[in-house]
Amino acid sequence: MESRNVTVIGLQWGDEGKGKIVDALARLSKYVVRFCGGANAGHTINVAGEKYALHLIPSGILHPDVRNVVGNGVVFDPQAALGEIDELRPRGVAIGPENLFISQSANVVMPYHKLADSLSESLLGGGKIGTTGRGIGPCYADKASRSTAIRVGELTKGDTLGAKIRKIVELKNKMFVSVYGADPLDPDAIVEQYIGFARRLTPMICDTGSMLRAGIEAGEPILFEGAQGSMLDVDHGTYPFVTSSSVSACGVASGAGVPPSAVGRVVGVIKSYTSRVGAGPFPTEQDNETGHYLREQGEEYGTTTGRARRCGWFDAFAVRYTADLSGVDKLALSSLDVLTGLKEVKICTAYRVGGKMVEQFNPDLMPSAQCIYETLPGWTEQITTSRSFGELPSQARAYVNRLEELLARPVGFISVGPERNECIVHNMQIEGVGQ
Ligand code: GDP
Ligand code: IMO
Ligand code: MG
Repeated sequence: MESRNVTVIGLQWGDEGKGKIVDALARLSKYVVRFCGGANAGHTINVAGEKYALHLIPSGILHPDVRNVVGNGVVFDPQAALGEIDELRPRGVAIGPENLFISQSANVVMPYHKLADSLSESLLGGGKIGTTGRGIGPCYADKASRSTAIRVGELTKGDTLGAKIRKIVELKNKMFVSVYGADPLDPDAIVEQYIGFARRLTPMICDTGSMLRAGIEAGEPILFEGAQGSMLDVDHGTYPFVTSSSVSACGVASGAGVPPSAVGRVVGVIKSYTSRVGAGPFPTEQDNETGHYLREQGEEYGTTTGRARRCGWFDAFAVRYTADLSGVDKLALSSLDVLTGLKEVKICTAYRVGGKMVEQFNPDLMPSAQCIYETLPGWTEQITTSRSFGELPSQARAYVNRLEELLARPVGFISVGPERNECIVHNMQIEGVGQ
């Protein structure tokens, strides 16, 4: 039987609108599973005027029957997660051991990871990555180093947890003081704080990998929720201006503890233009009136850090690469409404480097790329109330059709506004969607 699983990933530099798409598909799934990243993610869902910004809690949480899973590939910040839980519960969102499952093998983000993140960024000055400051890189570095890592399962071991934290904090303090000239952290305060977190989180900690594999065996549908965007992938993105995990569909299997065959159909989320937060190459960036227009119309200010996002035209040359990398079946196009009012819209279709056309895309070429653009006519009509492809102005339809041609896959879902219902199910062919 064909898998009913779906993987939703971003194909640009994050903030493509994944939260909204995952929420739309979640009611068809038994599980919604995060497999990468951590609280650096900010996934927005708008329902009936209420805005939910999720960082570590999976975007299936608004659907009471969905089991939300934080997979082993995530770096888990207990403080951020509990903060989110405490914000969501008074708003009527039920969260507990019945619907939130945290992998015992995920690595724990500690205060020294956040401190190391900010100290390293400030020392790099002009060469900084522009991280979210959530301790993501240092936590993944400890995961790879092994000896100074703490896994979520260890939070449940009250007898050894305190001593282990104390030992690592003392070691990290040596580096903070001698290398960075910073003040040391207080080990006792951290031990006390984390023992408190552990008490609250223990009922939700389990072996999520075997739970998901049993779900696969039973034919229960799973949705894998990507975080960040493929151009931020640690192996396949614009290195070193990337995040520290495997965020393309290639990261699903190891980040969730499932076989690669469980990935299912891959939905690649694209924004109708491009945004990027933080440093790094961005060939189609419009540091001008157009970029300003996109930022203001699209309210492009970070969900996690509030930083203004850099904005520019859609880069079809880059997205064809990320879509191929993840074997994307369908595209979900967001924020088409944001382009309303532009006289013309441009799509980058190719790069020239050193006067020569580039034959094969490679992210390393981006810093020296000159974009070749195709220009299409814009439209003035507001499209937020459109609910079918035919209702869109012909210029908007032409834009969508051209993206489908350039990216060599169909656009199944078109988002025309931030609200849950502001969308057009065009050609999704996923059972239950649009019915
Ligand atoms: P994610 O990280 O991929 O989940 O995306 P974010 O939530 O960080 O950023 C997407 C932003 O665009 C959020 O503020 C959404 O509410 C908003 N958004 C999503 N889809 C649309 C859309 O179709 N139109 C408009 N105008 N905003 C959208
Ligand atoms: P969602 O899931 C946009 C960017 C940061 C920085 C780089 C490294 O909401 O799409 P990190 O803190 O991960 O070490 O920062 O990656 N970044 C994101 N940009 N959306 C995200 O997540 C991001 N997560 C990380 O801005 O450039
Ligand atoms: Mg985001």
